[in-house]
Amino acid sequence: MARRWTNTLKQADVTPEPLWLNRRQIMAGAGAMGAALLAGEASAEALEPNTWDEITNYNNYYEFGVGKDDPARNAGGLRTSPWSIEVNGLVERPGTYTIDDLIGGLDLEERIYRFRCVEAWSMVVPWNGVELNDVLDRVGVKSSARYVAFETVVQPEAMIGVRRKVMPFPYVEGLRLDEARHPLTMLATGIYGKPLANQSGAPIRLVVPWKYGFKSIKSIVRISLVADEPPASWPMLNPREYGFYSNVNPKVDHPRWTQATERKIGGGLFSSRVPTQMFNGYEAEVASLYDGMDLRIFY
Ligand code: MTE
Repeated sequence: MARRWTNTLKQADVTPEPLWLNRRQIMAGAGAMGAALLAGEASAEALEPNTWDEITNYNNYYEFGVGKDDPARNAGGLRTSPWSIEVNGLVERPGTYTIDDLIGGLDLEERIYRFRCVEAWSMVVPWNGVELNDVLDRVGVKSSARYVAFETVVQPEAMIGVRRKVMPFPYVEGLRLDEARHPLTMLATGIYGKPLANQSGAPIRLVVPWKYGFKSIKSIVRISLVADEPPASWPMLNPREYGFYSNVNPKVDHPRWTQATERKIGGGLFSSRVPTQMFNGYEAEVASLYDGMDLRIFY
């Protein structure tokens, strides 16, 4: 199927950042399989990515502190090499994989996605990475698996938020298997063709563009295929405010603030808020995953 919204690239071919900034015509989120776009039905929208500086200086990564600028300031000591990822549970080929074992040889793509935090701010990020689906095929998912669980590294000596116990660690997250296998779901290793900054989740993180940002777990060291819905950090901490699904949904407010609108990072202090889109603008691609589900109950 055509994928007009992405290119398949080797890392070495990745466009340098200055060129990215001029490519305003690039489409993303206008049809995962390109179908709607090719049929001319979708309102093709040009997404203007945020700058590298915006993306790497306004972060949530509680292992490095709770302030938005704490991760950029504190993540320098994270050891990202060597790195290994344990794959376990209901898989044909469990084991400890290097990043190259896990994603080497797969299609490394550049994808410009909207990114919407549950705190009602948003960015547009040009990720580099692979489809999680391809990684799952590589490790071989057993038919009894129904969910995928993820875990972030814990390096207390490098992580001031871990030492201060700002929340329980390791940070954990999960997806239903069909969500994990959706073509929009990525494991990202870069932004703007550069390796991820530590504060962005180096060396490898999840990206699920139709869900609130906290699902996009950083610095992954374990991927487990499991039968039952796995625990997730924010829903565990506060199940009334954060659910397992956490699909971006302007019609279901957070108990303490509206989700109908969002503040675009980089838009300036006084820029007005913009409407939040259902499934963060990826409704055509992902709505069918939730057919028959009441999204007020499965928030
Ligand atoms: N992953 C870990 N390990 N720790 C975190 O605190 N924060 C989440 C998510 N992944 C977080 C995490 C939240 S709340 C958001 S909004 C995104 O990362 C932020 O990603 P960014 O800093 O790259 O924008």
